[in-house]
Amino acid sequence: MLPRINWLALCLLALSLTIGVEAQTLRDAAAARGLRIGAAVNMSPFRNEPIYTQTLGREFNILVAENAMKFDAMHPAQNTYNFTDADALVTFAEANNMAVRGHTLVWHSQIPGWLTGGNFTRDQVIAIMRDHIMTVVGRYRGRILAWDVVNEAVSDNNGQLRTDSFWYQRIGPEYIAMAFQFAHEADPDAILYYNDYSAEGAGAKSDAVFNLVSGLVNQGAPIDGVGWQMHQINPFRIQQAHRTNAQRLAALGLEVSITEMDVRISLPTTAQELQEQALAYRDVVEFCLSQPNVKTLVMWGFTDKYSWIPGFFSGFGDALIFDVNYQPKPAYSAMLSALGGGMGPPPVPTGLTATAGNAQVQLSWNASTGATGYNVKRATTSGGPYTTVATVSTTSFTNMGLTNGTTYFYVVSAFNSNGESANSGEVPATPLAANFTLSANPTSVTINRGASGTSAITITRSGSFSASVALTASGLPSGVTAAFNPGSTTGTSSALTLTASSAATTGMMTVTITGTGGGLTRTTTLTTTVNPAPDFTLSSNPSSLAVNQGASVANTIAIARVGGFASSVSLSASGLPSGVTASFNPSSTTGTSSAVTFMASSSATPGLTNVTISATGGGLTRATTIALTVNGGGGTGGVTVTPAINANSPWYNEEVIRLNNTGTITSLSVTIVIQRTTGVGFNGQYNTVGGQILQSNTVTAATITYQFNLASGQTLGPGTNRTFAAQMSGTGTIHPTSGDTYTVTYTTGGVTFTQTGHF
Ligand code: XIL
Repeated sequence: MLPRINWLALCLLALSLTIGVEAQTLRDAAAARGLRIGAAVNMSPFRNEPIYTQTLGREFNILVAENAMKFDAMHPAQNTYNFTDADALVTFAEANNMAVRGHTLVWHSQIPGWLTGGNFTRDQVIAIMRDHIMTVVGRYRGRILAWDVVNEAVSDNNGQLRTDSFWYQRIGPEYIAMAFQFAHEADPDAILYYNDYSAEGAGAKSDAVFNLVSGLVNQGAPIDGVGWQMHQINPFRIQQAHRTNAQRLAALGLEVSITEMDVRISLPTTAQELQEQALAYRDVVEFCLSQPNVKTLVMWGFTDKYSWIPGFFSGFGDALIFDVNYQPKPAYSAMLSALGGGMGPPPVPTGLTATAGNAQVQLSWNASTGATGYNVKRATTSGGPYTTVATVSTTSFTNMGLTNGTTYFYVVSAFNSNGESANSGEVPATPLAANFTLSANPTSVTINRGASGTSAITITRSGSFSASVALTASGLPSGVTAAFNPGSTTGTSSALTLTASSAATTGMMTVTITGTGGGLTRTTTLTTTVNPAPDFTLSSNPSSLAVNQGASVANTIAIARVGGFASSVSLSASGLPSGVTASFNPSSTTGTSSAVTFMASSSATPGLTNVTISATGGGLTRATTIALTVNGGGGTGGVTVTPAINANSPWYNEEVIRLNNTGTITSLSVTIVIQRTTGVGFNGQYNTVGGQILQSNTVTAATITYQFNLASGQTLGPGTNRTFAAQMSGTGTIHPTSGDTYTVTYTTGGVTFTQTGHF
C-alpha cells in the first residue's frame, strides 16, 4: 500500500490538473510533459551572480557544463585532473534536483597541448583516451545522466569523418567506437551520445551522421543517442525533415536530444525578430513533445548576458530566452505555453516609494517579472478603499493636481495578460506648498574684535521647493561683516562667517538672516556678541606702599583679563629704589593675581619712588605703578631705645627706657625686669606719653616686672625722649645689678621689631 502522503500528493496533483493550475516555470511545465529542459552553465556567473543560479535552478531540470567538463579543463596535465568546477556543477544539480549532461569526452577541439604535442604512439594515445574516459566518467558514475562521448567527428563538406581531428590522425576511425566502449565500461548506466551540429534536418551532414551512428549500432558499439546541437540562425522553423530524421534515428533504436540550442539574431535586434525567435523555440519544444525518442531540450546558455554567440559570430547576438537582465523574452513565454504552462499574474511590486511635492506625489517601484503594466491606486484613508489613478507601463508615476496638506495613501499592482497581482504595501505622502525655512546653528555667536565666528544656516525645503535661495545678513553690529558660503544655493545649507574688525562695536546684537528665492523670503535670527580683543590690565590696591629699612611689605597685583585672554603672564618690577628688591608669587600665572613683596635692606635708600610693575604674556605687555616709600632709620624701623639710670642709692633706684621714633608706632610693649636683690621692692612706675599707655607690674620673690603697653587703636607719632620708668625701694642694694633687663617690641611701617638690652 502506498504511504498516505503519496495519496495526498497524487490527489493534489490531479486536482491542480483538473482545475487547470498552470505551471509557471519551464521546468515544472516540461516535467509535466515528460521533457527534460536544460541549459549550458558558464562558471563565472555560476560562481558570482546569485540571480544566475537562481534562474538556472528555477527554470531548468537538467544542466550541462559549457566548458568545465571538456578535456583541457578536466585533464590539464597528463597526470593531473581538475574536478573543481565539474564537482560544483554536479553538486548544484543534485541539490536542485536536476539531471546532468556530460560534455564532452572526445573532441578535436579544447584538448590540451601536452596531449597534441606529446609525440605519443597510437597505443599511448588510446591508453590516454581510455584513462581519461575511465577517470572522468568513472568519477561521476551514476550521477551524470548522459555523456557526449564523441563530439563533431563528421566533416562539414564530404560526408566523411573529420580527418584533421587529432584523434582520427593518431588512432584512426576506430577511435569513435573505442570511446563508446570505454565510456560504457566506466558507467554502464550512462546514456552515451554522439553529438554534432548541422545534423538536425535534411542534408549531407545529417546523412553522414546517420551513416556514422548506424555503423556504430551495427557493429554493436554502446551508443544510445544522437545530440543535435541546434545552433540556429533566426528565423528558424522546424521542418518535416527534422521529424523524418528523428524517426530514422528512432528506427535505429537511438534517442535524440537537442543539446546546444540557440537562435542567433543579426544585431540590432527588432521586436519582430524576437517574435520570430519565439516561434523557433516554440517549434523545437513542440517537436520534442511530438517525437517519442526526443526527451531532452538543452540550450547553450539561458541569458543573453552570457552567450558564446557574440564572441564567435560577429554581428550576432540575443540568441537565448532570457535577456541580459534575466527577464524572460518572448521565446521564453512561447516555450512555456508550448509546454502547456503559463505565467500567472506578475508578482506583487516591491519597493514602492512616494515623494511628496507641491500638489503632487512622485511614485516609483521595482519592476515585477513578467508584468506588462501597473495600476497605481490611491486612497485618502490608510488601507483603502483605493481608486486607480493611473495605469502605466513604466515603474514610476507622478500623481499631480493634489491638495496640499492632505495625506494620500498609495499602492501599486502589476498585471499581464494572465491577470493582476495583489496590491503592494501602502506608502503615505503629504503634498505641501513649495516652501522653505531657515535656521541657524548655533543661534548665538560670540566673537572677539579682530576675529570671526561661524554658524551653519540650514535651508529646510518642503513641497518640492527647489529654487535657489540667496542669503543676506542685516542688523550687524558696526564693524562686523557677514559672508555666506555659498551665497546662494539650491542645496540645504550654507556656512555663515561673521568677522569683527578690531574697532567693531562691542556688545550683543540680533542679526537677521534673510533667504530669498522662488518668490519667497524667509528669515531667521541669531545673536552676535562682540567682545574686546584678548587683553589684560594690572592694578595694585593700594597703589602706594611704605616699607621700613630692613623690612618688607607685600601687596596683591590684580590681573584683569578680557576678551578671553588666557595666556600666562610673567611679572617683573622696574625702577626700584636702591636696596629694594621685588618678588612675585607666582612669578607667572594664567590666573588673575600675584602677590608682590618689596624687601628693603637696612641701607635701602629712603624716600618715595614710583615702581613700575610689568606683566608680559600672549604678545602683550601691560604695567601699573606703585608709589613706594622707604622709611629711613636703620634696622630698627627708625626707633631708638636707650636705657638710662635716673637714680641709684641704697634706698631708692630708678631705671628708665627712652624712646625716639621717626615713623608712626602702631603697637608698643615695653617690659623692664628688675632683680629683687636684698631689700629691693616695687616703688612705682610712670611714662611720659600719657593715658594711651597702659601700665602694670608683677612682683615675685625673684623679680619685679614693669609693663607698659600702647592701648589698642592708639598710635604714637614721631617723637623723642619718651620715657618709661621703673622705680624701686631698697635697703642696702644699689641698682642696676646684672640681670636688670628690658624688652621693647613695637610695630612701625607695618613691621614689628624687638630691641632688648640691660641696664
Ligand atoms: C563553445 C563554448 O560555448 C565556448 O565558451 C568555448 O570557447 C568554445 O566552445 N559546439 C560545442 C560546444 O560542442 O562545446 C561549443 O562550446 C559550441 C559549439
